[in-house]
Amino acid sequence: MASLGATLLSGCGSQQLVTFGDMASGFNREVAFMSIFAIALSVIIFVAVSYALFFTVNKFREDKNTDAPAQFHGNNRLELILVVVPVVIVMFLAVLTVRSMAILNPVAEQTTKIDVLGRQFWWNFSYPETKADAGGDVTNGNEMVMPTKQPVALTITSGDVIHGFWAPNIGGQRAAMPGALKTWNVDTDRAAVYQGNCTQLCGGSHANMRYKVVALDQERYTTFLAAAKAYRAPEPAEGSAEARGYELFMKGNPATGALACAACHRVQGTTAAGAAGPDLSFFGTRRTLGAGMWEAMTPEHWEAPDAKAHLHAWIKHSPKVKPGSLMPTYDGSEYEVNGKLVKGGVLTDEQIDDVAAYLRTLKLPEEADYWNNTP
Ligand code: CUA
Repeated sequence: MASLGATLLSGCGSQQLVTFGDMASGFNREVAFMSIFAIALSVIIFVAVSYALFFTVNKFREDKNTDAPAQFHGNNRLELILVVVPVVIVMFLAVLTVRSMAILNPVAEQTTKIDVLGRQFWWNFSYPETKADAGGDVTNGNEMVMPTKQPVALTITSGDVIHGFWAPNIGGQRAAMPGALKTWNVDTDRAAVYQGNCTQLCGGSHANMRYKVVALDQERYTTFLAAAKAYRAPEPAEGSAEARGYELFMKGNPATGALACAACHRVQGTTAAGAAGPDLSFFGTRRTLGAGMWEAMTPEHWEAPDAKAHLHAWIKHSPKVKPGSLMPTYDGSEYEVNGKLVKGGVLTDEQIDDVAAYLRTLKLPEEADYWNNTP
């Protein structure tokens, strides 16, 4: 059984797979193994019950003129069979389930761990092992990087409402619940880029709460994590557009009421430590914008005119691009804060382009670019 489902989407450059029941994942293989028994039993029961039904209906048809069927009340042997058989079936399926849980669930000390945070309407993926020493506390927004051929323990939670984490290629779906930390293993044997989606209706942009899962072979994963840990956002050259963008990013423009990006976003190696929005540390390496609303699959992605236009529109008035986005506007238009409409501050188009130019510089070194995920 190569795959239970169909590949819905395939792009160029990196592999883009949305495959239900992808057998490259041990998690999915285990689920498929269990499903075979459950489906086989269902088919047997369905056929047996259907046969009994049609047999009876046919045998006692009115036009056949047969005598009425035997009328009896209470049959201990029959009742015993009707109780014992379902109990045996349910017990059998329960044993299978417990067996699979025992295989899939233990989180060993050395297991790679990734913390997953769902928010309206984006995701943060953090690497707790990078917090252990003086290195950077690695977090990436909307793009999760994981190693292949081993269980990866995800600890999933939500910062607001209930979201659902599901990247079908690496395992089943789990709810992201506020106040609850749920740990569970996912895995894949194949280095590729996979699609993930939020699966709980969570507000206006539920459908725009997508993410990528990039699976890297161990060596590339190690390179990525080491580089990400050592990463410090580059300091822009004095007088450049990037430097002006950096200033606006950190301080906003108090004169026009434009809020600082740094109040809500974090950039590793700078004073920007906001947690209300996705982590932007590796923004220039990312190839998706707005939690998967826009995506590009070329290495030059951010230099393409359409990418620049998207990023510009995004900074200018994110809630117009993405319904329900909690990001402030920068064109003076109104946006919603806790159910109330407030007027956004203003950045000129040139200033917005400066901020965008700064964001594009936030890049991991070439060898750690996880999008080049195939050897
Ligand atoms: Cu988050 Cu739907």
